[in-house]
Amino acid sequence: MSANEPLLEVRHLTTEFALTQGVVHAVQDVSFAIAPGEVLGIVGESGCGKSVTALSLMRLVAAPGRIVAGEVLLRANGQMHDLLQLTPAELGKIRGNQLAMIFQDPMTSLNPVLTVGFQIVEPLKIHRGLNDQQAQDAAVELLEQVGIPEAKRRLKQYPHQFSGGMRQRVMIAIALACSPKLIIADEPTTALDVTIQAQILDLLRELNEKAGTSVIIITHDLGVVAEMANQVAVMYAGRIVEHGSVETIFEKPSHPYTIALMASIPELGGTADRLATIEGAPPALLGDLPPGCPFEPRCLARVERCAVESPALQPIGPGHTVACWVAQAGGR
Ligand SMILES: Nc1ncnc2c1ncn2[C@@H]1O[C@H](COP(=O)(O)OP(=O)(O)OP(=O)(O)O)[C@@H](O)[C@H]1O
Ligand SMILES: [Mg+2]
Repeated sequence: MSANEPLLEVRHLTTEFALTQGVVHAVQDVSFAIAPGEVLGIVGESGCGKSVTALSLMRLVAAPGRIVAGEVLLRANGQMHDLLQLTPAELGKIRGNQLAMIFQDPMTSLNPVLTVGFQIVEPLKIHRGLNDQQAQDAAVELLEQVGIPEAKRRLKQYPHQFSGGMRQRVMIAIALACSPKLIIADEPTTALDVTIQAQILDLLRELNEKAGTSVIIITHDLGVVAEMANQVAVMYAGRIVEHGSVETIFEKPSHPYTIALMASIPELGGTADRLATIEGAPPALLGDLPPGCPFEPRCLARVERCAVESPALQPIGPGHTVACWVAQAGGR
């Protein structure tokens, strides 16, 4: 596989929730690609569709949610597979071997009535074909790898016997069990204290660097993105509004929303004693949005056209796309 061939290519992904009050357009026409070993950061305010994007990639969106359009192409065994077209059995195989997801809240993905050991050993037996003893040994090794002391004894314990940070590590150990090619980490650190956050991020970074694992990291924290990501997708109202290399997004942010997000990091332009916030709130994604750009009501750079016509993502530089009339016209 050449380094430039994507490991994952998402095309026009669109996911909706059909509620009695109307349709929530949670993810609209989202496209991106990730090469082996690459790290994509997805950023944006609460409710802009980051988690639903991640869940859609894993095909874990539950009813009334539905992926209504798009392709999720993953390279496995030299071929591109559209995950959205696979049978549940085929998908199960790929999900275990190639793709793993780390959720915001470990308790939602760990089973409280099964020992931690069982939850690590089972996937090792199923996906790697190990026998009992081999799987036990591998599980101990995995727990040690994610920094859980006394791993052998800990395997017999239940999730509630672990602290929040340790549960997150267990979840990462389970995600690593089958050496996935791609890890999707959805806000892996928000529930944790700062020291543990840093350790978990180090762990992900190490995996990326040593094992060449590709990572999609979803976060509110632009500092994390600056440190870890190669490319950045900025989401707003269910869409990607700006996308580019990490250098481009930090040095030449072009969408007024990205510029505002950047200004909200103290070290990167805001004043140290006051966090800049963006006036107003993102639109609710229920029903049809007004025809203009979804950011228009909050935008300091808006022009007349912005209220009547929604801009599509267009290239404005090498590998740099932006959905903004003003930026596309050269900024102001
Ligand atoms: N199960 C659901 N039923 C209905 N609407 C949903 C459901 N899950 C998500 N949504 C809606 O989809 C949109 C995107 O939500 P999502 O969880 O992807 O946001 P997010 O970017 O991950 O936010 P946060 O940063 O708070 O985690 C929101 O408007 C949300 O209300
Ligand atoms: Mg989320």
